[in-house]
Amino acid sequence: MRIAIYPGSFDPITNGHLDILNRATHLFDKVIIAVLSNPIKNCFFGVEERLELIKATTAEMPKVEVDSFDGLTVVYAVKQNASILIRGLRALSDFEHELQMAQANKSINPNIETIFLMCSLEYAYLSSSLVREISFLGGDISDVVPKCVNEYISKLREKRFTNDYK
Ligand code: PNS
Repeated sequence: MRIAIYPGSFDPITNGHLDILNRATHLFDKVIIAVLSNPIKNCFFGVEERLELIKATTAEMPKVEVDSFDGLTVVYAVKQNASILIRGLRALSDFEHELQMAQANKSINPNIETIFLMCSLEYAYLSSSLVREISFLGGDISDVVPKCVNEYISKLREKRFTNDYK
């Protein structure tokens, strides 16, 4: 069984992530989408919130498992019997950081390969931070995030608006 890990912050999951995940399921028997729960990284959404949103988004994807991890990604991959890490690449600006991560991971465990999938053109500009910014400034993100994420963020926005004006 070929198992791949798709690690990331997913703060929150976007349609760009979903596109990479979906394409990865055509290449592997099982893809574990793994949310980093490392407190070193400051995320806007809590791990549980991010996991819930990913679970709701991927409920109809039988090859996908949702999990969280801390520590080294390659150590987690070994625990899951996976030998592949999936990462999405958008622009050239992603490349340097991704190359560094892939090489660092390779130096820690040479048996784990990183495979890059190029993002689809329509998501080339998309990032979780941009989604958060557009949304909390009142913009429409319904075309770029899964339905449940859009609904969740809209509710948060409404709550903030109500609290601000109480
Ligand atoms: O979605 P992101 O924030 O670009 O994902 C980055 C992530 C989670 C893949 C990366 O930070 C990571 O693998 N962190 C775990 C710690 C680790 O293994 N570090 C060594 C290799 S960079």
